[in-house]
Amino acid sequence: MSSESCCGGLNVEAAVRERYSAAANQSEAALCCPVSYDRQFLEIIPPEILERDYGCGDPSKHVRAGETVLDLGSGGGKICYIAAQVVGASGRVIGVDCNDEMLNLAREYQIVVGDRLGFHNVEFRKGKIQDLKLNLERFERFLAENPVRSSSDWLRAEEHASSLRASAPLIADSSVDVVVSNCVLNLVRSEDRRQLFSEIFRVLKPGGRAVISDIVSSDDVPAELQADVNLWSGCISGAFREDRFLAAFESAGFHGVEILERQIEPWTTVGPLEFRSLTLRAFKPQLTTTSDFRHAVVYRGPWKSVTTDFRQDFVRGERVDVRDAEFAMLAQPPYREQLVLLPNANVEIGAAPSGSMFVSLDLAADAGECCSPGSKCC
Ligand SMILES: C[S@@+](CC[C@H](N)C(=O)[O-])C[C@H]1O[C@@H](n2cnc3c(N)ncnc32)[C@H](O)[C@@H]1O
Repeated sequence: MSSESCCGGLNVEAAVRERYSAAANQSEAALCCPVSYDRQFLEIIPPEILERDYGCGDPSKHVRAGETVLDLGSGGGKICYIAAQVVGASGRVIGVDCNDEMLNLAREYQIVVGDRLGFHNVEFRKGKIQDLKLNLERFERFLAENPVRSSSDWLRAEEHASSLRASAPLIADSSVDVVVSNCVLNLVRSEDRRQLFSEIFRVLKPGGRAVISDIVSSDDVPAELQADVNLWSGCISGAFREDRFLAAFESAGFHGVEILERQIEPWTTVGPLEFRSLTLRAFKPQLTTTSDFRHAVVYRGPWKSVTTDFRQDFVRGERVDVRDAEFAMLAQPPYREQLVLLPNANVEIGAAPSGSMFVSLDLAADAGECCSPGSKCC
């Protein structure tokens, strides 16, 4: 679907709200794309939540212990409650949704699930995922005390929303290790999507990652299908065209964009169009500073050459000198297995500058260990 295309404007948001309000109270089979979750994580989740599963993948498989996870469009909270078990007591999980009924469903079992788990590391916040700065519950409190009866009231409310965004953002800049989402991005209006991707980028820590399961289409969705708000709220006509879904992350500044899972058979078809679930992962770059080209890498293959998201070509078997920050990045997934790492290749042994960037980069610790004697990669 082209980014400039129309998708029914505000009707889309109303249709999505109505559909998911109803689906929070009464399970709707048509909204569900069969997913097999790891059963061990489902045991402590109440059936009311499991029955209202409107996902199309399982991004929680890709989170790790101790991480801070943000789930966009958390619905009944299933992915949050699974992720809570994976990240453990030292991690935390925040679900964001803008639908009151879904938030009520998710919050109803927050204490129960936490008690079963032995710790309470999940919370649900009300917000639009394309505007992760605005805390809608705080804004609602302001509106209750300052009802909008005139355009001046409206302007004052807008000013208050701006000041809330700045002073008490729903999700702070660079605060999250992993953004996950399960079957939600396709519901966001076309005109809000650029901001959606930049919000995902903003809230991630440098080096953090997005793991997103969503519905993609095999070709552009024609305008008449996009105008059908039922198909939109049903995760069909707002689907991203598959290649554009990956490109959207690239355009927002992510690197290492990769398909982790892709349904072979389509979930559904409309005429010649196929709609299927896809899970991708994309990384926010580390902070970079300039430094000398102290390190080098050699691309192992099997492709003759590859191009990075930073537009650098690696030719199979050819040594390429790289800066510290880039080396630290390449020494991590998803690149590490594909490269021979040559740390300090351009520095005499023992002559590495002290206080180098390696001590200040999170990724660098691993790069150092990776190349210690007896390690797997050297
Ligand atoms: C298809 S359901 C997926 C729910 C959940 N991720 C799951 O796996 O069951 C979509 C959810 O996203 C929420 N949603 C849709 N658009 C949203 C938006 N712009 N901002 C926040 N939440 C949104 C809906 O309220 C609903 O709970």
